Amino acid sequence: MSARAVNGERLYAALAALGEIGAYTDEHSGLVGVNRLALSTADGEGRRHVVAAMRAAGLAVTVDQIGNVYARRRGRDDGARPVMLGSHVDSVATAGRFDGCLGVLGGLEVVRTLDEAGVTTRRPLVIAFFTEEEGARFGTDMLGSAVATGRIALADAWALRDRAGLTVQGELERIGFLGQAPPLLEPPHAYLECHIEQGPTLRAAEQDLGVVTGVQGICWHELGIIGKSAHAGTTPMSLRADAGVAAARINVHLRDMVASGRYGADLRATMGVVALHPGLVNVVPGRATVSVDLRSPDDAALERAEADVVQRYAEIAALEHVQITHRRTARTPYVPFEPRVQGLIAAAAGARSLRHQRIISGAGHDAQELSRLCPTAMIFVPGEHDGISHNPRELSTLAQCQNGANVLLDVTLALAEEPGA
Ligand code: GLV
Ligand code: MN
Ligand code: MN
Repeated sequence: MSARAVNGERLYAALAALGEIGAYTDEHSGLVGVNRLALSTADGEGRRHVVAAMRAAGLAVTVDQIGNVYARRRGRDDGARPVMLGSHVDSVATAGRFDGCLGVLGGLEVVRTLDEAGVTTRRPLVIAFFTEEEGARFGTDMLGSAVATGRIALADAWALRDRAGLTVQGELERIGFLGQAPPLLEPPHAYLECHIEQGPTLRAAEQDLGVVTGVQGICWHELGIIGKSAHAGTTPMSLRADAGVAAARINVHLRDMVASGRYGADLRATMGVVALHPGLVNVVPGRATVSVDLRSPDDAALERAEADVVQRYAEIAALEHVQITHRRTARTPYVPFEPRVQGLIAAAAGARSLRHQRIISGAGHDAQELSRLCPTAMIFVPGEHDGISHNPRELSTLAQCQNGANVLLDVTLALAEEPGA
């Protein structure tokens, strides 16, 4: 056991308090979930809550032009490059209270623990949260961290619109997070992100912690399907151009494509959005807006799977007499994390007698963007209920969160004492 330990109760209370913001009761399960879609009013409130906690911990807060927030703690050698700890506080519309928040509030808990112990690290520390990690509102995930690391231009990010036509720039301004700082980030010394696994693996293997080896590739499409809306009772089946049937065929193809194993055993494919217009019981759907989410740790396989679905869109368009257009809204490759930082995480877990294993991330994370700038790795915390996430049932226990934050503390201390610029 290391000499220092975070205060698990304080961390868990902080997660609960942030989880109150944007809380809603799920009408089917009766469970309380969280809805803080990026740059919504609730996200603004959540952001202000976290910024207030950062300031109360004595950190200097900066907001950049894409709304990323950086809270800096001085180092003994304050000109040295900082160790950055971060994640996100935006959520999907049906979230729990842990996704992203654990990394941000876990970072803040590390700072509080160091404050109490009277420890000033050699390097400065920066606790960060990034804008629209989820991509659930403006369609592109890891948006803020992608702008901070130069993958997406600020102007392109600002121009993105949600389904109501509202822009990222306008919404940043509305909630008071259109900051002044230029978004391109100076490379930190290292980046660490503590996050819930969001899957069943660690819990099933009775592990306390995951050392994340990398993030699998992600590819998103938004499809517009145009057919012809017509009377459901009078229009012969042979005369229909049914956008709903075309969407259904694409969705079934996704399932068959994965089951075929043609693109490896690890391919995942999901149609998460199906919006039919006009959406009436007695009208053949004339338009559909749907999404496709493809993921694989094998980039070549992901590329071939993408080509497969694109060809299938054309075949289904011809078969169903509809037009199908698609737009690629996200594409990130498999990103491996830095072996040296993985080694520090594994060593810290071992020193605390925590059972741990290497694990690849199925979800996207800001860490994959930061890894272009500096040595980066992630700590995964197991989840109950098969690790369910993006769901109000999402739950990691106090002990699980505390273990993750303790290892975050240990690795932060190790990296922050490293010599050099
Ligand atoms: C982000 O949570 C994603 O992987 O979709
Ligand atoms: Mn997340
Ligand atoms: Mn998420």
